[in-house]
Amino acid sequence: MIGPMTQTLTLLGLESSCDDTAAAVVRQCAADPAEILSSIVFGQNELHSAYGGVVPELAARAHAEKLDQCVREALATANLTLADLDAVAVTAGPGLIGGVMSGVMCAKGICAATGLPLVGVNHLAGHALTPRLTDGIPFPYLMLLVSGGHCQYLLVRGTDDFTRLGGTIDDAPGEAFDKTARLLGLSQPGGPAVQAEAAGGDPARFRFPRPLLDRDDCNMSFSGLKTALLRQRDQIVAGKNGITRQDRADMCAGFQQAVADVLAAKTRRALQLYLAENPVEPTLAVAGGVAANTAIRAALQAVAQEAGAAFLAPPLGLCTDNAAMIAYAGLERFRGGARDGMDLAARPRWPLDQSSPALLGSGRKGAKA
Ligand code: KG4
Ligand code: ZN
Repeated sequence: MIGPMTQTLTLLGLESSCDDTAAAVVRQCAADPAEILSSIVFGQNELHSAYGGVVPELAARAHAEKLDQCVREALATANLTLADLDAVAVTAGPGLIGGVMSGVMCAKGICAATGLPLVGVNHLAGHALTPRLTDGIPFPYLMLLVSGGHCQYLLVRGTDDFTRLGGTIDDAPGEAFDKTARLLGLSQPGGPAVQAEAAGGDPARFRFPRPLLDRDDCNMSFSGLKTALLRQRDQIVAGKNGITRQDRADMCAGFQQAVADVLAAKTRRALQLYLAENPVEPTLAVAGGVAANTAIRAALQAVAQEAGAAFLAPPLGLCTDNAAMIAYAGLERFRGGARDGMDLAARPRWPLDQSSPALLGSGRKGAKA
């Protein structure tokens, strides 16, 4: 008999918790590596660019308008119909509530019409399980989730078993990159723009703060960094009535170095805690948009190597928000027996690790921890 542990499963995943509308189809035959049959992402950068941040109402409306088309494209690209699916997985939080509700309602509609089972997925679990989707790595591994809305170390022990070792107590690094770009007149999203500028800059010219490094834990703080940068910028402007391209490049390089140093130091600490559990194949995995930063990636890779752990960074399209990670996390949960009813709630806040104390409140891009 074919049981859930050996069965081939094909899931549709939906993601709409922030500013990307996404749908994807993922399939896994028994214990084989999972396969992404399609992954469609409609970004909303243009929609929000005039406002300097994601406007929740605009995002929710765009998700509601785009989800159906996104699902159709995901199925068409996978060359499948709804009848070929085993279940529908959807991000049920944390995130901007209007967007999460759009996704949950769309998924419920599909399930009501087809009779397919529904599986709610925590967006953070989607990110955290991505190294299993891409590389099939075993539990337990250490995950650094570092994006525009999140920054946390997770000890991933199982599909539904996460321990948060620490995280930011204020801004997420991506948010700091975005604010830095805004302060220096660079384009949004700020990460790639700041990285490009930093390439021509001197990271040693300005010394930006590296908070909480004296503390023997895995918590971080990035909000002071933008204040220091603002002060530095205004000081230069006051001195010579403006900033040169070189000043800007040097500030970007100094800022990026500070973020990389903080992440490297705290990752060293998180690795110590993780390695104390004697994992068989120790692995540090990263996810989130900031993991795309080459300087930060190099710093993290060096720290992992130093500690004797493998370093794993999924391809960029799977580091940033996407629905393949939701379909895959849903697939793991479904295989484990998880099913949700039509009463599945959209949750603005939903910490992965319910036992760790809350680190922070709700940020510009939605709930963060
Ligand atoms: O994971 P993501 O697509 O969305 C969420 O925040 O959930 O991450 C987007 C964030 C933005 O803040 C963006 O500025 C940052 O990731 N980012 C980068 C780079 N590419 C994207 N930050 C630093 N360096 C980059 N190359
Ligand atoms: Zn995300």
